[in-house]
Amino acid sequence: MKLILFYLVARVAAAQQSLWDQSAPSDTFTNPVIYGDFADNDIFRVDDVYYFSASNMHFSPGAPILRSYDLVDWELIGHSVPSLNFGDNYNLAGNQSAYREGTWASTMRYRKSNGLWYWIGCIDFWNTYIYTASSVTGPWKQAASMPGTCYYDCGLLIDDDDTMYVTYGATNVSVAQLSADGLSQVKTQQVFNAGDVPRNGIEGNRMYKRNGLYYILDDDSQGTTIIWKATSPFGPYTHKIMLNNINSPVPNGGTLDQGSLIETQNGDWYFMSFAWAYPSGRLPVLAPITWGDDGFPSLVTDSAGAWGKSYPNPLPRRPLASWTGTDTFQGTALGVNWEWNHNPDETKYRVNNGLTLQTATITNDLFHARNTLVHRMYGEFPVGTVGIDFTDMVDGDVAGLSAFRDTASWVGVVRNGSSYSIQVRANATQDLSSWATLSTGTTAASIPVQTMSRNIWFRCSLDARASGTKLAQYSYSLDNATFTDLGPRVSLSSGWELFVGYRFGIFYFATKKLGGSIVVQSFTNT
Ligand SMILES: *[C@@H]1O[C@H](CO)[C@@H](O)[C@H](O)[C@H]1NC(C)=O
Ligand SMILES: *[C@@H]1O[C@H](CO)[C@@H](O)[C@H](O)[C@H]1NC(C)=O
Ligand SMILES: *[C@@H]1O[C@H](CO)[C@@H](O)[C@H](O)[C@H]1NC(C)=O
Ligand SMILES: *[C@@H]1O[C@H](CO)[C@@H](O)[C@H](O)[C@H]1NC(C)=O
Ligand SMILES: *[C@@H]1O[C@H](CO)[C@@H](O)[C@H](O)[C@H]1NC(C)=O
Repeated sequence: MKLILFYLVARVAAAQQSLWDQSAPSDTFTNPVIYGDFADNDIFRVDDVYYFSASNMHFSPGAPILRSYDLVDWELIGHSVPSLNFGDNYNLAGNQSAYREGTWASTMRYRKSNGLWYWIGCIDFWNTYIYTASSVTGPWKQAASMPGTCYYDCGLLIDDDDTMYVTYGATNVSVAQLSADGLSQVKTQQVFNAGDVPRNGIEGNRMYKRNGLYYILDDDSQGTTIIWKATSPFGPYTHKIMLNNINSPVPNGGTLDQGSLIETQNGDWYFMSFAWAYPSGRLPVLAPITWGDDGFPSLVTDSAGAWGKSYPNPLPRRPLASWTGTDTFQGTALGVNWEWNHNPDETKYRVNNGLTLQTATITNDLFHARNTLVHRMYGEFPVGTVGIDFTDMVDGDVAGLSAFRDTASWVGVVRNGSSYSIQVRANATQDLSSWATLSTGTTAASIPVQTMSRNIWFRCSLDARASGTKLAQYSYSLDNATFTDLGPRVSLSSGWELFVGYRFGIFYFATKKLGGSIVVQSFTNT
């Protein structure tokens, strides 16, 4: 009787949990903790709150910041780099671009002694920039630059005596000591190199202190994570392999290596890494750590020795706003979930209870059109829907919704003279090292717009799983209720070279002359 009752209770609990999987707290969490592209995490705790700084390469603003109270539920709260002011290529000026440049493998910390948040990153493999803010949500400003010094894949440690150290480097790893204000370098010293492991290369450097010892965490980017230990920040360091090519909790998810060590307020330790899972992107995965008597950490694996699909919650769950929903562009500023492809032309858009976009570029090439607004995709089968009023388009204009990456496709409305068509374009491609446009794509479908209404909704539905079909289907609607598929399923790319996963891109460019505008009325991601 007791057993049967227990069985029934367990059945109900299991049913509820599967219904509420995405939102309801349970005793365990599931990897990835966010099914979204938040790469190169640098995670740290301030009292009972966790912060996560990520990379977003050529998207602007740069270096998204997330916050959590339980290490599992996260929310996006801002960006550390308000604008990518690093050259004309970041503005898609002329024929230039900055694809795959911008913010990558950077670091962020809060310094209690002066109440400042610091973000440090190397831009263009050549110059280090330091941004600071007195509130994590901004405003952030560029506080220093170090021309000619690159803190490649850097990690900041603020020591107990408030001294700031940065570890950095590829292959040869160094530790730099910063000045008292944290804005310049006092000294730097090489502490070890890849030959010590031995590996061909090491990177992804992070620096921590535990029980009076200094630790540097890095990886060989081939599935091996290395942890180094010393009694002084400048060494000598000894090392241990922490992870060596263990299986990913994300099907077909590639290697796990780079990430952050995190100590909770209860003294428990975790490692957050990311799974390379394109088309989606690099997805954060979490696992507990235990420390051995030798003063080195080990990852808690599942019974098969793999990174677990689920583990007990680190802390009581505190769910945050859903990653999905509808934005109707209320107020006068874009929400933090939006980024632009490169820096936008600020004079060519306006948020005022709806988003008005004016054409900013005459081109037939989406990769070189300014002011494409991008939004992350969440989940294995993301769906994006945009509502557009195209009354004020001019001849030659093209507006729509893209699955945007190095292989891009789109559905959009195209004006030619006084006629309008809905088109699907597939297979626009970039060269994966020069980022030159190889193809502006082929028209896979085209039908006339047979309505006097100038409102239209476009939808893009993807299978973005690394283990999936990697295809997208486009559709359109004239009433925001019935959607009709248009064109074949189109290919998504899954190479690593661009370092970002697919985004929904809302675009508007001119092929003949500037002067037109559209109103983006709503965007829904589910
Ligand atoms: C890397 O370290 C090795 C050994 O210390 C040294 O010989 C080499 O010059 C260093 N390379 C660079 C680029 O600093
Ligand atoms: C626009 O329409 C004209 C006249 O029908 C046609 O000749 C031309 O090819 C069309 N242009 C495009 C880009 O479809
Ligand atoms: C832009 O650059 C590409 C090569 O990177 C070249 O093929 C193309 O002709 C250039 N376009 C213009 C308008 O200069
Ligand atoms: C896009 O490219 C893929 C791979 O080359 C090809 O199989 C597919 O037919 C192309 N799709 C369209 C619509 O051109
Ligand atoms: C379209 O429908 C969705 C709900 O399916 C709604 O959230 C959105 O606001 C609608 N858009 C417009 C412009 O009415």
